[in-house]
Amino acid sequence: MFTSKITGLGHYVPENVVTNDDLSKLMDTNDAWIQERTGIKERRHIKKGDGNSTSVMGVKAAKMALKEANLKATDIDMIVFATLSPDMYFPGGGVEVQELMDMKTIPALDVRNQCSGFVYAMSVADQFVKTGMYENILVIGSENHSGGLDFTTRGRSVSVIFGDGAGAAVVSRSEDDQGGILSTHLHSEGKHKDELALQGPSTEHWVPEIIAENPQEDIPYYPYMNGQFVFKHAIVRFAEVIHEGLEANGLTTSDIDMLIPHQANLRISQFIQQKLKLSDDQVFNNIQKYGNTTAASIPIALSEAHKAGKIKKDDIVVLAAFGSGFTWGSVIIRW
Ligand code: COA
Repeated sequence: MFTSKITGLGHYVPENVVTNDDLSKLMDTNDAWIQERTGIKERRHIKKGDGNSTSVMGVKAAKMALKEANLKATDIDMIVFATLSPDMYFPGGGVEVQELMDMKTIPALDVRNQCSGFVYAMSVADQFVKTGMYENILVIGSENHSGGLDFTTRGRSVSVIFGDGAGAAVVSRSEDDQGGILSTHLHSEGKHKDELALQGPSTEHWVPEIIAENPQEDIPYYPYMNGQFVFKHAIVRFAEVIHEGLEANGLTTSDIDMLIPHQANLRISQFIQQKLKLSDDQVFNNIQKYGNTTAASIPIALSEAHKAGKIKKDDIVVLAAFGSGFTWGSVIIRW
């Protein structure tokens, strides 16, 4: 077995900053409500005509990650692309990245695990590298949420939370058998699939059917979220899967140097921090600036934390996510 290591990180967010006050001009909401319930102050939205899309943002993040890894696009053996908001219904974002970055005819795999997407994608990359099949894998999480949210008062409990952006990591084969990705742990519980979902358009809810069958006030082509139900499950599963990962490696919470939780909601991150008895220095949050960017949130946060010098060699870094599906997972890394 080989060792797999993160050798490069990158992130990109659109320039267009959307504050809570900006949203309050579109819907009945306010800065105090949003900050109190979610911790979010602002998020980024793609602006029509700025050239961004889910794949384009993914490429921008990927270029930064490749540069850090000191690799060319042609050195990459596989793309794993996580998103819930692809540019097209099909094909997925992976092939768009392959084309936009002028890569070899390498495999491009799309991962559809929403907020757990990046953790699932990292797990896939880790297996391909550890078994020796590939040497360098580009893992991307990217989301264009603003293209599909309901910015009227009807959609306010969902729309204020989500933002656009992308993050990327290069996962490479390493000779160092002490460090790297130690283990990944993935779970799902499909019985809760309807609690955080976007029903259509899909083969179950195709466009004419949606238009014919749904009154204006009940439109299933906008995301639905049972916020309190999601919150309650998230805090249990986050803690469980972090403990699972630590125990698998003979570690405890006091060994964590940096926890990067999926940026679902600042209250969720704070709850986990308290539950695991971690100090402020052991947890990194940036949801205040970007909102919840789903599959992009962990790689954006990881890239920012790393560039800010908050992650050092030999640190134990834990990535953990929970989201629609429900799905959840963790990645334990010795940096
Ligand atoms: N602005 C102002 N008021 C809002 C609002 C908004 N953006 N969104 C909802 N409200 C109102 C509701 O209509 C409700 O009004 P009512 O009491 O008159 O009926 C009131 O605020 C409380 O709504 P509720 O949904 O009970 O609030 P909450 O305390 O559960 O907070 C969430 C809502 C979504 C912030 C919270 O449940 C949450 O964060 N859940 C987890 C979501 C998450 O992390 N999702 C991503 C998972 S990966």
